[in-house]
Amino acid sequence: MPRFSSRLLIWYRDNERDLPWRGLFRGDPYAVWVSEIMLQQTRVETVIPYFEKWMKQFPNVKALADASEQEVLHVWEGLGYYSRARNLHKAAKIVVEKYNGELPRDLGALRQLPGIGRYTVGAIASMAFGLDEPTLDGNLRRVFARVFDVSQPADSSAGEKILWGLAAAHLPRGRAGDYNQALMDLGAAICLPKNPHCLACPLTKLCKARELGIQEKRPVLKPKKSTPHYVYVAAVIIQRGCVLLAKRPSKGLLGGLWEFPNGRVNGDPAKELAKAIQLATRLKVKRKEALGIIRHAYTHFKVAVHVFRCELISISKDENIKWVKLDELQEYPMGRVDRQVSQKL
Ligand code: ADE
Repeated sequence: MPRFSSRLLIWYRDNERDLPWRGLFRGDPYAVWVSEIMLQQTRVETVIPYFEKWMKQFPNVKALADASEQEVLHVWEGLGYYSRARNLHKAAKIVVEKYNGELPRDLGALRQLPGIGRYTVGAIASMAFGLDEPTLDGNLRRVFARVFDVSQPADSSAGEKILWGLAAAHLPRGRAGDYNQALMDLGAAICLPKNPHCLACPLTKLCKARELGIQEKRPVLKPKKSTPHYVYVAAVIIQRGCVLLAKRPSKGLLGGLWEFPNGRVNGDPAKELAKAIQLATRLKVKRKEALGIIRHAYTHFKVAVHVFRCELISISKDENIKWVKLDELQEYPMGRVDRQVSQKL
């Protein structure tokens, strides 16, 4: 076995993190799948309680496939990137219909499932099926870019190709699951983006970036585009103990979640509120007092949402708009911004 992987695996034997998907659920393809989807773009500490709740509520593929989209979004609420939950749900239905409720071992068939890309195929194949497949996420990219001093941007196609090649080239036969997870743990605990703990690293003697003193300059990333800021207004319309909520279309950002009627503005939020709400929702409202401003960062943009209590002037029939009792708001899945608003009511 090459020095890279033997050192890594010895380190992992002594330093493996105790995580719920490595306990009772170790090697269970469904649990590996769920955890890997949750762990995309989300920290391990954040994922743990969500994973535990999810596995209680939907203990297997069939239970997930039988759930409603609202139940699924409810358990996911607060984790962000809701298309991950919708795709898991869609894929579970396909797995029940096409594969009798068992995730297929075939890599091509796995890759066809909604929400499963190259990373997730590698993770499931290695950790659940014991196949000799590499994978590559942000942590692994950083480790390989440093140890092998990869100067091509990690988010370019040339850089990607090199990094996948390195991951495959060092993979120890029969130990891919441990190898992939060891790299994840090393990236999370030692090979940190800032101030990496090189003295505690099992790969320190092999690490080219360390030798050159350029650890923090690896991985190279393409220059980031600046994130746009948008201003929104949201209307809290209360009548007889009920508040008006709108359901977002099931595709796209926050798809299938509930929100307070809202719209984007370019100028003064208070002045433009009525026009913006009417344009976005067809509701005619009259602005009352300001309830506050909520700021939130999504992946590609930031928002400031100016929330106002409003009076309803007129409403047209719309099945995605609903009067909801104030004490039943928690039953409606929402994103973070709207949940904050609902908690003020
Ligand atoms: N990050 C992504 N997948 C992971 C896993 N299986 N264990 C720890 N961290 C991870």
